[in-house]
Formats: sequence, structure tokens, C-alpha cells
Amino acid sequence: MSFGLKNRLSKIIKPQTGKTVMLAVDHGYFQGPTTGLRDIKSAITPLIPYTDCLFITRGILRTCVDPSIDASICLRVSGGPSILGELSNEDITTSMEEALRLNASGVGMSIFVGAQNEDRTIANLGKLVNEAQRYGMPVLAITAVGKEMARDARYLGLACRIAAEMGADFVKTYYCDEFYKVVEGCPVPIVMAGGKKIPERDALQMTFNAIKEGASGVDMGRNIFQSDNPVGMINAIRAIVHDGATVDEAYDLYESSKSQPIEVG
Ligand code: R5P
Repeated sequence: MSFGLKNRLSKIIKPQTGKTVMLAVDHGYFQGPTTGLRDIKSAITPLIPYTDCLFITRGILRTCVDPSIDASICLRVSGGPSILGELSNEDITTSMEEALRLNASGVGMSIFVGAQNEDRTIANLGKLVNEAQRYGMPVLAITAVGKEMARDARYLGLACRIAAEMGADFVKTYYCDEFYKVVEGCPVPIVMAGGKKIPERDALQMTFNAIKEGASGVDMGRNIFQSDNPVGMINAIRAIVHDGATVDEAYDLYESSKSQPIEVG
């Protein structure tokens, strides 16, 4: 691994804890103005100070994010279909040159294992890694799940392992029963996506379980920005990921910050 790649990766997965709290706000690239991100600038600005890395598209980065933020950037570089089309019909949409110009610390794309275009998306991952390697740019592979696929350890383990074999530097996947088996079979760090909005305590429990079973952090969206207390929620997630908090401790943080707003340090 080159100095540049290691240096960039250290801006995402923090060396102090070996973990990361990434905030995923890329949903609009196929869903349009998702609930919680309609006014995306207002939604994400208060969360950025608590985020290690923003997972975002170039369009939202350019128009809605202050360039002086401390959080690093992992740029979504794949896209194509909308929610109305065949989701696996993705290609690379953003160049490596653009990622470098935007000072990204990583680039991310989805692979659709088991879906109509799985072969093209997996081959595209290989091509993205080929190019990223030339510039020391870490690649995040996202194991997108088709509507008919089971989110179990067998399927997610298959997708994560394929991503690692293609050369991804880290992988984003969903939590499942026996998540440790997915981690065991994947030789690169795994970050957990949150999935659909669930009650806050359940999302904290899921995060706790994922970390206990070997996840290197989260790349979470809806369970943060669709919460009734997004800043409290991201802080509670941080407490679990970076500080080893229990679910009760993290939930108290989320609850107590409703009455005592957390100050930006
Ligand atoms: C899918 O739209 C993206 O890859 C999201 O970044 C990913 O699903 C994480 O967001 P959430 O926690 O909302 O699932």
C-alpha cells in the first residue's frame, strides 16, 4: 500500500481507534430528494462536525458543503439508473481526476451481486481499483442488495468477499445475523450501512453488535438524518464506535441531548 493510499485511508478510518463514523448522504443519486435530505444543506451542515468522513456525490459536495470542513470526503462515483429503473444498471460516472480535484480521501461504488448486471458492476469495480491504484486513492465497494436478495450472512459474505478480491480497500455492507461470518470472510475493513430507518435504540443496538462482531465502523445515513434528533444520534453512534459505549450509555446521550443541545467543540 502506497504512502498516499495509507494517508488518505487514515482520513477515513481514524488511526486512533481503527474505526470510522461515515455519514452517508448520497441517497439522492438514485432516489432524488429522500426524506430527511430534501433540504440537504440544512440537514447535513449541523452533522458534519461529528462526522469522520462524508459519503457524498460530487454535485452535492460542490453546491452544499463548506470546503473548510475538517471531515474527509469519500466520493460516490457510480450511478446511472433512478429508482424507477433497473438499479444494477450502474456505471462509473465521476472521473478519478474529479475525485482528486475535490480532494477526496476515497471513492465508492456499488456492486450488485446476484442482480441483472452483476458482471458489469463487478468488472467496473476492478477497473476503478486499477485506476485508483495509480493515484493512491482508496476504493470503497458497496454491496447493494437487489429487492429479491436475502440480506443474510451467506449472500452478504459472498458480495463482500468478491469486493475484496477485486481489490476494494474497504467494503460497506448491511448488518445481518451472524455478521461475524461476513467479517471473517473479508480481508479488508467492513463498514456497516444502516439501512431503513428503525427506532433509535434498535439502530444503536445494531451498531453495537456490528462493532462487537468486527466492523470497522459505520457509513450510516437514514438512521441518523431521519432521526428526530440527528445530532444526538450521530453522537450516540460515535460513542459506540470510537469510545466503546454500551447501548444504554449511547441511548442516554441521544435522549439527553434533546434537552441539552450538544455544543460544537
Ligand atoms: C445507498 O443509497 C447508499 O450506498 C447509502 O450510502 C447506504 O445505503 C448507507 O445509507 P443508509 O444507512 O441510509 O442505508
